[in-house]
Amino acid sequence: MLKRRQFVQLSAALSALPAVTFGGTDPEQGVITRPIPSSGEAIPVIGMGTSQTFDVPRSSEALQQLAAVLEAFFAGGGEVIDSSPMYGEAESRVGDILRELQPRPPVFAATKVWTEGREAGIDQMQASARRMAVERFDLIAVHNLTDWRTQLATLKAWKAEGKVRYIGITTSHGRFHDDLLEIMRREPLDFVQFTYNIANRTAEKALLPLAADRGIATMINRPYQRGELFARAGDKPLPGIARELGCDSWGQFFLKFIVGHPAVTNVIPATSKVHHMRDNMGANRGAVPDAGQRQAMLEAWDAL
Ligand SMILES: NC(=O)c1ccc[n+]([C@@H]2O[C@H](COP(=O)([O-])OP(=O)(O)OC[C@H]3O[C@@H](n4cnc5c(N)ncnc54)[C@H](OP(=O)(O)O)[C@@H]3O)[C@@H](O)[C@H]2O)c1
Repeated sequence: MLKRRQFVQLSAALSALPAVTFGGTDPEQGVITRPIPSSGEAIPVIGMGTSQTFDVPRSSEALQQLAAVLEAFFAGGGEVIDSSPMYGEAESRVGDILRELQPRPPVFAATKVWTEGREAGIDQMQASARRMAVERFDLIAVHNLTDWRTQLATLKAWKAEGKVRYIGITTSHGRFHDDLLEIMRREPLDFVQFTYNIANRTAEKALLPLAADRGIATMINRPYQRGELFARAGDKPLPGIARELGCDSWGQFFLKFIVGHPAVTNVIPATSKVHHMRDNMGANRGAVPDAGQRQAMLEAWDAL
């Protein structure tokens, strides 16, 4: 178990940092934010996922490593943390660390409901709140459309009762797009989550335009195609357009490509490593590519 003294040290280290490093969205500080269309609330554009990376047994070593990853996330101005009961122990590991952070940095806590049946859904969402140490989730989404009619009905009721702030639905890998589009047309969603990255641009055809049209915030999963993009980039030098945009790495290049799409609200790369989290948070600031620069990024990618 992580010793209390170590958490206190982490907390003290976080407290010593200037306010903006706790995820301030002050434009003067340079964090790129996007408004959630249904409310106008601004959130930092780079968040984090927890699938696999936070699904580890509770041990002193694991908690120390993940606490350092979260510290780098908050130091980089991150707020949005995405999890799910599907991700094994991930919600619990996030909660283990958040529970000990005093003061707690601003967190936009997002999880999902991933089960069949009304009562099972309610039990699962309540368990998620305990596991992730969250009084009230900012966002709960139906995971992979699982029993979506039932779960969305509960989520709409919970939102009306103030038990959750935003509701949504998720998919990934290009699955269920037709069903998702139909749900987006008919249901009052705040968020929709799906896969979009420089090597998988299917979402540009219908999902992203419809989200913009319907005023639904987008949360982008698998921004690195689960790491596959790095295999193609290898140790090849960054193209000129990356330097022009202030990207120091291929990771920042991939994230900035996504951020440059005007219908993207938030991107949630996942990492278990502190240096990768620092790298990812580099894309939370600086330039946002315009349409012409995104085209140059695509051409550079295609030329690899
Ligand atoms: N249906 C759904 O709702 C759904 C489906 C898929 C994903 N998601 C969400 O989206 C999140 C992100 O997707 P994902 O985890 O599948 O894949 P991803 O973020 O595209 O890729 C994660 C991989 O990239 C590596 N990585 C991260 N940052 C890096 C960097 N700066 N440099 C080099 N390698 C880096 C990680 O390895 P290291 O640990 O070694 O850094 C990991 O292997 C998930 O964690 C989850 O929260 C939701």
